[in-house]
Formats: sequence, structure tokens, C-alpha cells
Amino acid sequence: MKTQITEWLLEVERFTTTNSKDLEDFRVKFLGKKGHLAHAFEAFKNIPPEERKEYGQHVNNLKSKVNDKIAELRASIDRSSTTGSDTTKDIDLTAPVDIHDLGSRHPLSIVRKDIIKIFERLGFYVSDGPEIEDDWHIFTALNFPQDHPARDMQDTFFIEKKPDIALRTHTSSVQVRVMQNNSPPIRTISPGRVFRNEAISARAHCIFHQIEGLYINKDVSFADLKQTLLYFAQEMFDKDTHIRLRPSYFPFTEPSAEMDVSCKLCKGKGCNICKYTGWVEILGCGMVDPNVLENCNIDSSIYSGFAFGMGVERMTMLKYDIKDLRIFFENDLNFLKQFASL
Ligand code: PHE
Repeated sequence: MKTQITEWLLEVERFTTTNSKDLEDFRVKFLGKKGHLAHAFEAFKNIPPEERKEYGQHVNNLKSKVNDKIAELRASIDRSSTTGSDTTKDIDLTAPVDIHDLGSRHPLSIVRKDIIKIFERLGFYVSDGPEIEDDWHIFTALNFPQDHPARDMQDTFFIEKKPDIALRTHTSSVQVRVMQNNSPPIRTISPGRVFRNEAISARAHCIFHQIEGLYINKDVSFADLKQTLLYFAQEMFDKDTHIRLRPSYFPFTEPSAEMDVSCKLCKGKGCNICKYTGWVEILGCGMVDPNVLENCNIDSSIYSGFAFGMGVERMTMLKYDIKDLRIFFENDLNFLKQFASL
């Protein structure tokens, strides 16, 4: 019987398999009711008493080797079934993939980026400033007379109990900061959110976005302003775009103008977008008033400059033929997803 056990031990040692069925057969063969170990224990009674101790150790050794072998093979079969080849046949490689819902840029972000890129090509750099500003940066430095209606509660959101602090009504306030902290030449554009106390309608909102530009150097002329804006309009819309400057008024520029571009929809023939005039107004501009330069410690006898400002909502409405600006703030996915590839 002892030699038999040694043979079984060898068999256990050599045994290996990668499938559960063979392992189960192996288990039954050794540990089953009529298995080898049952036989070995059965034979116990026929062993002479003085050899029983040694024999017992032999059988127990065999039993624990069998258990170890089963545990080891079971673990390796389990491992390969979770990572490996056995189950790949259960995966349908032809099944369609889950489509990830990709986000899209907001149309206002797309147009803001387009505008910034055009001016960056001309050497302008982007400047940023606070949305909550003091009266000096929003109005006083920009040559607004003390009793100017734009300071009126109707247009400006003032911070309660702090009459000197308000939400900026334009990003010209950023340009004041740039002029204070830099010496000419200055070429900067200031994109950002602005706030005006206006009733919300298809054409106006109390929060909107602006991009304002400023160029200050020696001998800057109105011709420079005109050429810069013509270049901008033709880059933004198309090469056939014409511009028209109409006299206007802003406290911080002299002379001041409003700029129209030829209607891209009807090519100047007249349609409901341009109200049958052939022209659409897109921005305000002018030569920086010498008082503004002096307020910001720039010598107006040496330097001159031009400034312009436009609404991003308005540019976006024109570019994508959008009739109501409230849709920009509604987070309507059907609207936003149309801009997914831009
Ligand atoms: N700041 C003006 C506005 O908010 C726009 C503007 C900027 C006009 C620069 C002229 C020059 O309406």
C-alpha cells in the first residue's frame, strides 16, 4: 500500500489541467467516496500497529497535496476565465459601440474666439479685468460727465449700500486698467461679460458679452481705425464686405462713429435682417478722447489712439442668422448641438 501511495503522490504532482471538467474528475478520483484516499484510509486497519503512525502521516500528506493541487488549479482556471480566452467567445465584437455624447462649444464662445483670433493676427493681446468695478474705472476715467444718463440707476446695476461700486456696463473699464499699468504702444482687446439694467427682449439682455479694442501709439489716425475695422469685417464675414462709418457720440471718443457692414444676407439689396437698408450696425468706435489718456497718465500731446467695442451676441446673431438672443442663455441642447463641429 505504501508504494501505491507514493505512486499516487507522483500522479498528483504531475497532474495539470486548464478546464474545470478534468479538475472535477481528478477531485472525484482522489477525494470521492470511492476515491483513492477513501481506499487508503480503508486499508488503515490492515496495517501493523507499529507502522500505523508512519502510514497515517503518508496518507495525510497525500490528502493535503491533493487539496493544494485542486486549490491551485481552480485559482488559475478562475483567473483565465475572467481575463482570458475562454470567455472571449461570449463577446459580440460586431455589436455597435456606445456613442459618447460629445459636448459642443457655445456659439458665443465660437464667435468670441473667431474675433480674438483676427485681432491677435494684428498684434492685439487679450486683457482681462474685474466684473465688479468702481465708478472711476467704468465712468469717470472715461470722461463721463457726473450727470451722464449712463450712470443712472436705469442702466447700471449698483452694489447696494456702495454707490461707488457697480457691475461693469462695458469692458472699456479693463482698458482703463491697461492704460494705467502700461506705457504705449498699447494694442489690446478686452472680451468679457457686461451688465446693464435693461428689460430682457429678443434684442436686449441684462447680461451680454463685449469685445472692446484699444490701440495707442504715436501718430495713430482715424485712417488707421478705418483700415483696422475694414480688415476685421472682411475677415469676420467675407472679402466682399463693405463698411460704413456714421458719426455718433461716446464720452470717451472724439470723433465717435458707429460702424455698419454691408448685409451679408442680401448683399446690400435689402432684406428684413438689414431692415431693407442694405447695412447692419455692428460696433461703436472713435479716437480716444485726450481727457481719457490724461486720466490714465498717458501724455496726449505725444500719443493718440483709437478704440472700438462690439457685442458678441450681436455678431453671433448676424453670423448664424439668429433672431432672438434669449436662446443663448436657455441651454437648449437642440440649439447648442448644431454647433458641435465648430
Ligand atoms: N464702450 C462702448 C459701449 O459699451 C463701445 C465703444 C467702445 C464705443 C470704444 C466706442 C469706442 O457701448
